[in-house]
Amino acid sequence: MMTENVTENYRNKALSLIAKMSLEEKIRMVHGNELFRTGAVERLGIPALTMSDGPCGVRQDFKPSKWEAIGTSRDEVSYLPCNSAIAATFNKEIAYEAGKVLGEETRGRGKDMILAPGVNIKRSPLCGRNFEYFSEDPYLTKKMAVPLIKGIQENDVAACIKHFAANNQETARHEVDTIVDEETLNEIYFPAFKAAVEEANVHALMGAYNKINGEYCCQSNHLLNDVLRNKWNFDGVVVSDWGGVDDTYEAAQSGLDIEMDVTDDFDNYNMAEPLKEAIKNGEISESELDKKLEHILILMQRLHMIGTEARKNGSYNTFAHQQKLLEAAEESIVLLKNEDDVLPIKVKDKEKILIVGENGDKKHAPGGGSAEIKALYEVTPLQGLQMELGGNAEIMYAQGYISGADIAQDSGWQAMSLKDQENKDFDKEYAEKSKSLREEAISMAKEADRVIFIGGLNHDEDKEGYDRKDMSLPFGQAELIAELQKIDPDMIVVMIGGNPCEMQSWVDSVKGMLYMFYNGMEGGRALAEVILGKVNPSGRLPVSFYKRLEDCSAHSNGEFAKKDEVVYREGVYVGYRHLQKAEIDPLFAFGYGLSYSEFEITSGKRKKSTGKTTEISVEVANKGKYAGAFVIEVFKYNPKYDYKELCGFEKVRLSSGEKKQVSFEAEAVDEDKLYIGENYRSISLEV
Ligand code: BGC
Repeated sequence: MMTENVTENYRNKALSLIAKMSLEEKIRMVHGNELFRTGAVERLGIPALTMSDGPCGVRQDFKPSKWEAIGTSRDEVSYLPCNSAIAATFNKEIAYEAGKVLGEETRGRGKDMILAPGVNIKRSPLCGRNFEYFSEDPYLTKKMAVPLIKGIQENDVAACIKHFAANNQETARHEVDTIVDEETLNEIYFPAFKAAVEEANVHALMGAYNKINGEYCCQSNHLLNDVLRNKWNFDGVVVSDWGGVDDTYEAAQSGLDIEMDVTDDFDNYNMAEPLKEAIKNGEISESELDKKLEHILILMQRLHMIGTEARKNGSYNTFAHQQKLLEAAEESIVLLKNEDDVLPIKVKDKEKILIVGENGDKKHAPGGGSAEIKALYEVTPLQGLQMELGGNAEIMYAQGYISGADIAQDSGWQAMSLKDQENKDFDKEYAEKSKSLREEAISMAKEADRVIFIGGLNHDEDKEGYDRKDMSLPFGQAELIAELQKIDPDMIVVMIGGNPCEMQSWVDSVKGMLYMFYNGMEGGRALAEVILGKVNPSGRLPVSFYKRLEDCSAHSNGEFAKKDEVVYREGVYVGYRHLQKAEIDPLFAFGYGLSYSEFEITSGKRKKSTGKTTEISVEVANKGKYAGAFVIEVFKYNPKYDYKELCGFEKVRLSSGEKKQVSFEAEAVDEDKLYIGENYRSISLEV
């Protein structure tokens, strides 16, 4: 945490630099002069600020004024588990370590700011960018985001949390007006941003594209001045989303510091020539501009970009990073079902194992929009299993189904944009290819001793600028799973994605099932380790898995993916909060996840609260035969809204037969009724 004194010194230095600058020089610093870079003032030793996406790693480099990759092997990087996967670890230490990797790689790649993490709340399972976000729960989001930001910023680079605020759908993202009350914002959509500012001292924040209650977020006086700067005392830099500003005057007075955009018309950005002209003719005071420069110059000193202190050099693609990402990936995998202990699988000598499913051998790093990563490598599940099993088993692979984009690639991407007749050919080709892949998988399954299905979604569904239309499992996977189950009733099903899908038609007959959010470069290896029992799964769901889309409040309201205006009628009843109020059973609950071992909370108590926190002390025992980790979850009853909400959690590692007493903090006061358990539906103790 920056001391007052240091900040004061930085402020003084900033003011003395500003006093020496011409209007032209000042203007250069408050808008993109390249797609990911502001302008420098070399005369005064002020460098440009260089940014990069975020959040799954440091993005590849683009040409200064063209969305064209520069095409170098030097921008291949470590690919991190997505934020949903980090959240699924329910382990704050893992979040911190992941942040450290990201910060080191950001600096290692010569950047100053990483446009991450995304801390928006998952309001609907259809939102295309959910994989970039942590959870439907504000407490879990902030508790994971804070250490992650601290980890990033230890490396003399800035984290830039995004997208402030209530950016919860991709449909019409540039213009949709989110109508939401202040109470809901404070309870659900703001807490992670507030904690990032107050607890993690986040250095930068990105405004959202959407409007809130009629005002564009990137130029909203209410959001950026009243809330962020005045209430939360944020003195860092506010960056617009790329193209999120539409008015020079509003942007100038809003608390926004840097305007970024997607076009190469840099001089005509709102905060470029138009701002200069408005200042010259007296419409906007130059002191508004100076405030922005002050924020930017303080940031540059915090990062040791200017000043005399040495700046850390960072590093990327180190073996240490890869190991840390493997640990994160291992802890993020969620065991959803394990009837008859079908998992971990016990492979017999010379066993023939068939992996079915496109996700069995698909690399996800290059997709998703701005979160795309040019990974140094990505281990697919098939590779992971092959690597772990070695020569004693025969691993076969059948793709089984085909996602739309893959066939488009086969026949040239233009196929997607051809006219009617050709579209019919495309559909026909797709149907034929699907059928032959399905038949091949089924016939191979008959020859195999065991089948593992690895499917789910990919970044053609989970991507920026797009929301899924429904929650169905695409590409005929449900039918294929049903067919394969007839051949191998013990078939393990693995779902990979950034969002849950409908599973109702087949889930009851599956005995063993795992869920894995896009899990980074070591994801396939981690999955193999879990399937084979080298790692005991300990992930927990950071979101509700609904049975049907209508069980989600945004959809029962009919208020999602609307184009002009989307009204958050559900208020605070988002995710499992709504499920409790409406008494709806989820398919798998928020906070749910099994283990190969059995854990028991044997006792628990609370101490007197100090301020807003209460110390919880719990004894946990591992009664099973595997070592493993268990997540203790604490919920408090909120009488105003009549639901239990997460207010504390701790992950504990125990060897078989071990008992441990652990203490940790929950966000609760003496009057709060507290429930300790495995999740909000499985409570062991009330304290
Ligand atoms: C996204 C941001 C991203 C920016 C720069 C925008 O389209 O919404 O999250 O950081 O592009 O790539």
